[in-house]
Amino acid sequence: MAVKLLSTQTAALETAGSSMILSVSPDGILECLYWGSRIHRAEDFLGETSDCQTVNVDNLQKVREECSSYGSKHFRETSMKIRFADGTDDFRYTVQMMTVGTDPNELEVVLQDIHFPVTVHLYYRVYEEADVIEKWRKIENGGKDPVHLERFFSGEFTLPGEGYQSINYNGRWAKEFHMYSEPVDSGAKVYESFYGLTGHNTNPIFIIHQDAREDHGEVWYGALEWSGNFKTIVEPVNTGFLSVMTGISDSNAAVTLHEGESFTTPPVYAGYAQNGFGEMTRKMHRFADDILAPAEKRKEALPVLYNSWYATTFDVSAGAQIQLAEKAAELGVELFVVDDGWFVGRKDDTAGLGDWSVDLEKFPKGLRELTDRVHALGMKFGLWIEPEMVNCISSLYQKHPDWVYHYQSRRILEQRHQYELNMSDPEVVDYLTDTFDCLLSENDIDYIKWDMNRYQAERGTDTYCPEKWERFEIDNTYGIYRLIQRLREKHPEVEFEACASGGGRVDYGALRWFDEYWPSDNSDPIDRLAIQEAYSFLYPIRYMRAWYTQDEGMNHRLVPMDFSMHVAMTGALGIGIDLNRISEKEEKDLAGYIREYKQIRDTVQLGDLYRLSSFRNSPVQALEYVSRDRKDAVLFAFCLHERYGEELHTVRLSGLDPDKPYAFEIDGKRIAKTGEYLMKRGIDLRLRGDYASALVKIHADDH
Ligand code: GLA
Repeated sequence: MAVKLLSTQTAALETAGSSMILSVSPDGILECLYWGSRIHRAEDFLGETSDCQTVNVDNLQKVREECSSYGSKHFRETSMKIRFADGTDDFRYTVQMMTVGTDPNELEVVLQDIHFPVTVHLYYRVYEEADVIEKWRKIENGGKDPVHLERFFSGEFTLPGEGYQSINYNGRWAKEFHMYSEPVDSGAKVYESFYGLTGHNTNPIFIIHQDAREDHGEVWYGALEWSGNFKTIVEPVNTGFLSVMTGISDSNAAVTLHEGESFTTPPVYAGYAQNGFGEMTRKMHRFADDILAPAEKRKEALPVLYNSWYATTFDVSAGAQIQLAEKAAELGVELFVVDDGWFVGRKDDTAGLGDWSVDLEKFPKGLRELTDRVHALGMKFGLWIEPEMVNCISSLYQKHPDWVYHYQSRRILEQRHQYELNMSDPEVVDYLTDTFDCLLSENDIDYIKWDMNRYQAERGTDTYCPEKWERFEIDNTYGIYRLIQRLREKHPEVEFEACASGGGRVDYGALRWFDEYWPSDNSDPIDRLAIQEAYSFLYPIRYMRAWYTQDEGMNHRLVPMDFSMHVAMTGALGIGIDLNRISEKEEKDLAGYIREYKQIRDTVQLGDLYRLSSFRNSPVQALEYVSRDRKDAVLFAFCLHERYGEELHTVRLSGLDPDKPYAFEIDGKRIAKTGEYLMKRGIDLRLRGDYASALVKIHADDH
């Protein structure tokens, strides 16, 4: 059983490979006695409490709390802050109840304030096979007086001892997932978004380890299901443990609960891996793909996409798009996407956002002519939209200037000439639902690229309403979720991609509602190898759109097609070049790569990823994907520059069945070896000159 009540006060949450033991301390504090590799006799924890230290400090600083709340004698970061009507700001509780839910995988612990009629429900759900524990909270006001929630994180985690490192990112646009692993020995480390969305800088995940590597060392990790401002705090507490807490950011958000009202936090999904980052990755990829991803497209590999943005930018027209579509179809593309520029008034980025009807100057016969042609060519049709945004020059803004966030006393701040619609306003969300429902119903559209190209800068409206304004951050994100949820319900067959100036919306909140991400506008293959590697730590490959581009790339660098294509083929392949500017030979080569990709994409997108080596510490970056039945594997290897005449590199594989014979071809030569040989001895690859790459397809050899 996944949740075991060991007594009325102690519970064990058990997944296939981990245990978390929760218990009420003698002082009545809910604490985490243990989180780590699976404990087979959880009963041993009965009678144990963490109150065994000898240092002369108050108990509240020693206990590894599950729900610490500001005040009392905490003197450190806490995961909750509640202000009661009389100004009291510490929530002191008794544990009222610890019970297994109607679902045997769920545990609920109810904390009741000792004076005010306010309860905090801590919920836990165990995904036994996936090795994931989900936490979320509900705060309820049962009294007449309002209660002010000033911090309301989703979950808190603690690990005993010192010497931990924390992994997160310090990126920006075109440099998403710039990864750091830093010691957390003193002072709280805060990872936070102030952008109004997840953003390009840090990410709402946590990865904690003590010198772990790809294939060894313990790792504790988690991901928050939230696409708005978040805050994660990692703090070494001076009484000997590490505290990690995450949730909606409280920097610019608060919630007032009136009588009978409650607030439920978004969930955080947490896991433990005994054998390094690779194990963590494979567990979370499976969990995300199999359990969290929208059910309609789950377990389906994404089609090969062509996007005309780099070819045309805003200069789209029916004729030119049809011409591109014809070329794309010849290459074997399966989904043809028209990016920005198709709607009325959109000649550049200064106008048009908000007016989501087709520009009849560019498409005199409407979109139909193009969609019919694309479908006749055997491809799906996709379109770019940016629902949350409006340009000042648009009829939507002229009609509803009150729908954008603004302060009455100030000029509205623009980014890319655009304003942000107030998605917390149900009227705005209803309007957008109708607009896009109409667009999808009237046109034959199979895919939507949902973009978001500005950061939040002001959260105000015509009338100041403190309680509403304090919640804008939160309700805005829920407004976005409501819109995508409704569109998905009405159009379940449509594939949705989450983009925000590249990878600004890569998070587990978007993962729940979208089928894929655009991880970065940077498609330079060298940068992409780093971005994609760090992305892949906790985000699935099937969600990772990766395009082949050429000189449109970031660093004015021309990289040979085979290297660039191989990089794009390590994810969900897309083509982004101007097909009018390529030679016949390039066309032929591209078609060959696309054909090859279709043979391997199920393994790449739906298999298990092994990061065999990385440019971070090796001249060769090697990635291996293994199908879940271990019958197929795909190996990619990249070397930027041959040096010291060393052209031969041995790569040892992983994840194969040691007893199974496998076969593959290298340089036209067929080789057959057992999984054991391939994993212990490895394959020799010749990576010669600059920008060398290799792709090896390995199959179980049943002959
Ligand atoms: C953003 C996206 C790009 C492209 C443009 C269109 O920058 O990240 O991929 O769609 O918008 O304006």
